[in-house]
Amino acid sequence: MIAMMKLKFALLASLALLSLETSAGASSWLESHVDSSTRKLLANVSVPGAQLGSVIASPSRADPDYYFHWTRDAALAMDALVSLDERAQTASERAPIRQAILDYVFFSRVNQMAPALSDLGEPKYHVNGSPYMGPWGRPQNDGPALRAITLIRFARILLREGQGEFVRAMLYDSRLPTHSVIKTDLEYISHHAFEKSFDVWEEVKGDHFFTRMVIRRALVEGAKLARTLSDPGAADWYEERAQIMSREIESHWDAQEQVIQPTLGQTEGADYKTSGIDTAVILGVLHGYANDGFFAPEDPRVIATLRRQRAVFATLYPINHDAGDLGDAIGRYPEDRYSGSDFLGGNPWVLTTLAFSELLFRAAPFLALPERTVALRDAHAFVMRVAKHANPDGSLSEQINRQNGFMMSARDLTWNYAAVLNAWIAKEAAIHSQ
Ligand code: NOJ
Ligand code: NOJ
Repeated sequence: MIAMMKLKFALLASLALLSLETSAGASSWLESHVDSSTRKLLANVSVPGAQLGSVIASPSRADPDYYFHWTRDAALAMDALVSLDERAQTASERAPIRQAILDYVFFSRVNQMAPALSDLGEPKYHVNGSPYMGPWGRPQNDGPALRAITLIRFARILLREGQGEFVRAMLYDSRLPTHSVIKTDLEYISHHAFEKSFDVWEEVKGDHFFTRMVIRRALVEGAKLARTLSDPGAADWYEERAQIMSREIESHWDAQEQVIQPTLGQTEGADYKTSGIDTAVILGVLHGYANDGFFAPEDPRVIATLRRQRAVFATLYPINHDAGDLGDAIGRYPEDRYSGSDFLGGNPWVLTTLAFSELLFRAAPFLALPERTVALRDAHAFVMRVAKHANPDGSLSEQINRQNGFMMSARDLTWNYAAVLNAWIAKEAAIHSQ
């Protein structure tokens, strides 16, 4: 009996040690890549020859050509910068970040005023600010919602600093017709919230959990800003639309399968996505959670969906076999065929693997023991997975080759660096809540 207990104790101790070691590695990898990720992200903003405030998705100009300002990628990159602006300790640390965000505000206004094929749902722009006019999956209505979310956070910072005049002139003018960036986006999404659009992966037209979550959050937070800035009629309207949206979003929970369905009512696009497994759902929670208890990271439905997705990717990719302590490399969805240059097979992605990490870091503080410990261990393990495949200088391409683990597709993907910064911020918050 005593011998057994001793054995059990030794086993537990070594397990604890193991998880401590992995988490130390993951913590220090994140820590040591904050500065370089910030630099690499900023390097893709206002690149030489481009308009100030434009954000290229990647410097790659062929296979794939990502030398465009995607409304979505740009908003997500800027959202990470807003978080860094909030945390900046010194004026000199803040200056380049603040400048990039301000330039982005002006560039966004240029985008909004340019006549595009799908209005503000236009997915991508040239770096001179004009909309891309070639064939594409459009509209993508997550774009203006994400831009509004980012700039609402920025407006709050400026209001705290007493810069109400700039906020009322450029960001939210409480007028109709409006000349300000946030209100222009809120008007568009509030009027087009229930129309089908192309998904975050630009391939399927329908009603998407991701798109709906970010539209809802923009409306909820937009309503609060509208109230602060004496625009109560608009605040009521945005709130009302958000409430209807909440009911629509609830219908994505599939109680039978115990997963959140990524897309309902598909009308166009890729016809080979049949599994209902899509990590866009996790991203929808990360970027669409409005801090009000609605589909929070720790929501059992979200955790169940993540677990199911993870199990699918664990067996799908050869690099995940015999992974040991490493987390599994996670892709967009199992049927994915897009490799960056052809449609011969999909791969795990950096930003989706980091999304699993961030989700668990954000959920962990709200989970009971022992689930909390497991979530934290797993969150670290997903970071270690990305660390293993990153280039030696910390640069991160869009995809991780499913066979050999090398970085592939678009190099220096801007969104990846935002994902590193978000994972780091979530990790810090989780550790401080302990
Ligand atoms: C580029 C898109 O961004 C990607 O998501 C998609 O798979 C391919 N084009 C094909 O539509
Ligand atoms: C393909 C991704 O699917 C899409 O989400 C992204 O906006 C573009 N690449 C640009 O990075």
